[in-house]
Amino acid sequence: MFDIQEIRSQFTILNREVNGKPLVYLDNAATSQKPDSVLKVWNDYYTEINANVHRGIHTLSQLATEEMELSRRKIQKFINAKHDFEVIFTKGTTEGLNLIAYILTQKLKKDDEIIISYLEHHSNIVPWQLLCERTGAKLRVIPIDENGILQLNYLDEFLSEKTKVVSVNQVSNALGIVNPVEEIIARTRKNSDAYIVIDGAQSAPHFEIDVQQMDCDFFVFSGHKMYAPMGTGILYGKQEILEDLPPFHGGGEMIATCSFDGTTYAGLPFKYEAGTPNVGGNIALGAAVDFIEKIGRQNIQNHENALLEYAQRKLLELENIKIYGEKAKRVGVVSFNLEGVGISSDVGMILDKMGIAVRTGHHCTQPIMDFFNIAGTVRASFAVYNTFEEIDKLVEGVKKAQKMLG
Ligand code: ALA
Repeated sequence: MFDIQEIRSQFTILNREVNGKPLVYLDNAATSQKPDSVLKVWNDYYTEINANVHRGIHTLSQLATEEMELSRRKIQKFINAKHDFEVIFTKGTTEGLNLIAYILTQKLKKDDEIIISYLEHHSNIVPWQLLCERTGAKLRVIPIDENGILQLNYLDEFLSEKTKVVSVNQVSNALGIVNPVEEIIARTRKNSDAYIVIDGAQSAPHFEIDVQQMDCDFFVFSGHKMYAPMGTGILYGKQEILEDLPPFHGGGEMIATCSFDGTTYAGLPFKYEAGTPNVGGNIALGAAVDFIEKIGRQNIQNHENALLEYAQRKLLELENIKIYGEKAKRVGVVSFNLEGVGISSDVGMILDKMGIAVRTGHHCTQPIMDFFNIAGTVRASFAVYNTFEEIDKLVEGVKKAQKMLG
């Protein structure tokens, strides 16, 4: 049974007040809160096990290694990867995307093409621009319509033998729009040999992920948006592709042999995990997966969809409000502006005084803001512990902001 009060009781931080009011945390697309079970696993690692992994013969090192590798297998199951060694620990989505763009350098040449979309976060734009600078390749961008929906006929038009990479997010962080990645992957496979990269930063907290069924080459996400500590994340890559591509960082752990005459590299996943990893964080990421699996991803999604539907309905009862992507399929996010109120941060500040945390501004997606000819939006984003009463408070806060600023 889905018991929201029981779920909320697992998050100590939700008991705190902000500006003398109970905290209403609606900035989950930026980072989610962490349940006590995840924090306990993280704390237990440092108080009872702390040691470096894969290095020591001693007991603590072996325990740390076992715990981290157990976590890798939990994540393998969570995304249905074929092998645990296809799961690489990173410090988040941004690192994952930069890693992929870097290791693909030798595969691209002048006038090759990389396809992304208008809905991307800067972290799925800039690494590809840097790759274009290194190789002379060109970026092509799938446009959106006035609802924020990708215009996939452009994908068909862009795809050719020049296309070397297609990289899109499964869910837009700024608008919450769910992109048809299965369709994008099918069309790409049909018309090119491009590497397919899916940014799952905003989908992994909400959806069942099955990388084999999806048939992407790479899938990346952050732990901190799905109830795990900051500085954790995953890069999934297909075995044959990761084996074929060169390493990213050089250092300890990623070598098989090292001499002044040359170095040979370790097998997967270690080839891509140079240096001491975030052992405690990576183990806690496994605990976050346990937290999600215990509630059930379908239950989480049903609750978050109900919150989104309720928030949209209530906000649209107000006058002079515009929701971006209103007619698109979305998850976990309502992004809006109040007509006559030029600066979203003013609304955010009034909400903050009422204890309500939302994100305002461009959300690291300036091209989307340029498309809608706005400087930013007010974004409320939901997690499993949010309630309908909290949405009511958000709507009250927005009404107050309209009165004060309108
Ligand atoms: N990418 C995060 C967001 O959308 C930080 O807020």
